[in-house]
Amino acid sequence: MLWTKQSLKDRIQDIIGDRMLIIASNREPYVHIHKEGKIEYIQPVGGAVTALDPVMKVCKGTWVAYGSGNADKEVVDKKNEVGVPPDNPKYKLRRIWLNKDEENGYYYGYSNKAMWPLCHMAYTRPAFDEVDWAYYKIVNKKFADTILNVVGNKKAFVWIQDYHLLLLGKLLKEKNKNLLTAHFLHIPWPNTEAFRICPQKREILKGLLANDLLGFHIRYHCANFMETVKLEMEARVDTEKTSVTYGGHEVFIRAFPISVDFEEISDAAQSKDTAKAVKKLKDEFSINDGLFVMAGLDRIDYTKGIIEKVRAVDRFFEKFPEYKGKVLFIQKGGLSRMHIPEYKNLNEELNGLVEEVNWKHSTEKWAPILFIRKHMTRKEIIALYKIADACIVSPVHDGMNLVCKEYIAAKKDLNGALILSRFTGAARELDGAIFVNPYSREDFARAIKKAIELPRAEKQKRMRRLRSVVKENNIYKWAGKFLEELKRI
Ligand code: G6P
Repeated sequence: MLWTKQSLKDRIQDIIGDRMLIIASNREPYVHIHKEGKIEYIQPVGGAVTALDPVMKVCKGTWVAYGSGNADKEVVDKKNEVGVPPDNPKYKLRRIWLNKDEENGYYYGYSNKAMWPLCHMAYTRPAFDEVDWAYYKIVNKKFADTILNVVGNKKAFVWIQDYHLLLLGKLLKEKNKNLLTAHFLHIPWPNTEAFRICPQKREILKGLLANDLLGFHIRYHCANFMETVKLEMEARVDTEKTSVTYGGHEVFIRAFPISVDFEEISDAAQSKDTAKAVKKLKDEFSINDGLFVMAGLDRIDYTKGIIEKVRAVDRFFEKFPEYKGKVLFIQKGGLSRMHIPEYKNLNEELNGLVEEVNWKHSTEKWAPILFIRKHMTRKEIIALYKIADACIVSPVHDGMNLVCKEYIAAKKDLNGALILSRFTGAARELDGAIFVNPYSREDFARAIKKAIELPRAEKQKRMRRLRSVVKENNIYKWAGKFLEELKRI
């Protein structure tokens, strides 16, 4: 059966019954900001938000998240809630306020200086700071108090997202045993060797094991988690049922590969609005029609392999100079987590590297890399996918990666090739991509050439295959399967 927006809508009541649905994540799906004397809103980039917003539009309920926009406080009601999407509200967003110290310790500190590098194993050392950990606990408690307040004495299912809220399941269950809680990790779960260095590992594992269901993108992450529990806790790990019993409570561990709203993106890419946006982008950045365009869209993050990508582009023009003036690499890079030195340094390194590669290979009328730094709207992003003859997704490690799935969804005309890192969760599903090891410049440079030279029929065949995978394994299937599993439990 093909899961669609409608089939999820039809079944949601049966699945969650009379329970309220609450999603908890650090990042909010809509951020209100002041711009030129007015209040506007933007949709942040990032996997969790991209995937869950379409689900919430169908399932309704309340999304609890940190209010990070400078105009967020001005649009909420007395309960700190605002209907979203702001133009046509479908569900409620309940905002939590954090002070500077909390944001610093919990978000920049423990979440992104400790857990993010720990789980990605991208050769950036995690830093476990006691003060950060204290704030991490405080903010997890803040989320728990808010959610308990939203629930009151009703029945509810709380769906916790990602590595910022690893203690939340336990904090909720301690106060309200009747709550159903599930936690989905959008990032990889590391192997036992990597995880054992974490000084707070037992508290983190206890936090997760208190839930009813734990979801990861791929089975390998489930297996890593179960191995970790076996090693670190006095728990019963059942590999047949893939469950763990700790302190008399059983939690089920399952893989749910996350995805995108295939139909929505596919239709949007064909719309007149997108055609206009394509023209505008081409004019704005002087993108000539004759060029072969390769696009990359990433948050500037050391896990995304952007440096590796630029180095491969450099190698590609060294090896195949006949392509000078004929191929353009567009890299959209959103600034991210800039108060963390590793991110700031990466951004500077990237600036220098792009300039160097452009200087080295450019001709009078052409430079190989166009680096777009401005915030792009959804419409502009889809227009960029449309323009791109190929897309390069090259993380050194990624739980899933949704950029590649969005690109595939946008290519209804089948005119696109995907270069994909083997170290993404998506690589396990996306047979039809050209796979690369981003650590190998030679391999990467050859893959770029292959994508450019792919015969038309072969390109279409591959894209057809990729599209059938993403069409079937779409975001509504992900949500439907997750919720059905919870019901079964
Ligand atoms: C990853 C994480 C998300 C996060 C996103 C953007 O996809 O799994 O939880 O929201 O990155 O990062 P940010 O720190 O800006 O929320």
